[in-house]
Amino acid sequence: MKLELGEKQLAWATKTLEQTAKKLEQVSRRSAHKIPYTTVNGVHDDKSGERDSWWTNGFWGGMMWQLYTLTGDPFYRTVAEENEKKLDTNLMDYDKMDHDNGFKWLPTAVANYRKTGNRQSRNRGLIAAGQLAGRYNCAGHFIRAWNDWDDNGRDHRGWAIIDCMMNLPLLYWASEETGDPRFRQIAVHHADTAQRCFVRGDGSVRHIVEFDPDTGEMVRDYGGQGYEEGSSWTRGQTWGLYGFTLSFLDTGDRAYLETAERIANYFIANIPESGLIPVDFRQPEDVTWEDSTAAAIAACGLIELAKLHEGRQQKLYLDAALKLLRALADQRLNWDENEDNLLTKCTGAYHDKEHEFSIIYGDYYFLEALMKLTGQELFIW
Ligand code: GLY
Repeated sequence: MKLELGEKQLAWATKTLEQTAKKLEQVSRRSAHKIPYTTVNGVHDDKSGERDSWWTNGFWGGMMWQLYTLTGDPFYRTVAEENEKKLDTNLMDYDKMDHDNGFKWLPTAVANYRKTGNRQSRNRGLIAAGQLAGRYNCAGHFIRAWNDWDDNGRDHRGWAIIDCMMNLPLLYWASEETGDPRFRQIAVHHADTAQRCFVRGDGSVRHIVEFDPDTGEMVRDYGGQGYEEGSSWTRGQTWGLYGFTLSFLDTGDRAYLETAERIANYFIANIPESGLIPVDFRQPEDVTWEDSTAAAIAACGLIELAKLHEGRQQKLYLDAALKLLRALADQRLNWDENEDNLLTKCTGAYHDKEHEFSIIYGDYYFLEALMKLTGQELFIW
């Protein structure tokens, strides 16, 4: 369905996108040879080289492809291609490959292939998809998330996390690209398991579920990056909201749409008056930590849901997305063109030592949301 933005809403989105692109023009020149994750004193850090396997290392390339789509300036394409090539050492390092292949190679290699038809990029995307498919557990019908060597030697063989819903589109793409249904079959099995085991009756979602890796039975769940077991880590809610929406778009299975809408309705009901999103909807009342990334990702998912409806239902999702984006633009955007980040007050995890800093995927999804609203997005997922 067409997005029915009011005149003022469209004017706001257009103006905010222009302002964002203008700042990013400066930032991308300064950070052209980096793969940023955060900023230190307003300057992007660099996860290239030794640290090139970090799960967020595709987002800078994704931002560059969005800007290339918006402006046609070949500079952005060059920066995106450099980011993509740097990920090759990760692609050849089994120990550092995990379920986040979608986050890394959809915004880089697959975006490149979709835009330019580059066969090397297609090759990278398919290798990443094959490796992701290889993480499938046949007894539990889930995709294993992490490797054991990441976290104090804990046994992660049976761990799956809600974030993986955003990696499934790499598998849907690989099936479409090769004509081989196996990738899609694995994605659907994982999505069905996630629907059954991660989504609670009230529409909130768990972060981590542990299965017995031999029998596939569900063992327990964990609070993960949220406050505690039974809580509601906001970014996890958004991975579910957007991720199930994408599985619906890729398969046409209405059960995924219903699940996405259940999560969306829960999310909307919990948006504070301010429009600023906490790290966990169930964190203690005296804790004020925010996560701006959750607001930006939720907005993207809500805009996609809005596109699937007309009238009142479209307006519900669109208004919620705009409330989140306006709160970010008015209160959590660093518009200083001499500093490299867009969003402020992003948080990796509730129990991390540091909170409320800049994080690259917050900036990516803020840009993606504005591109969606103005009808100019390169569809990455
Ligand atoms: N996918 C990891 C995170 O959302 O922090």
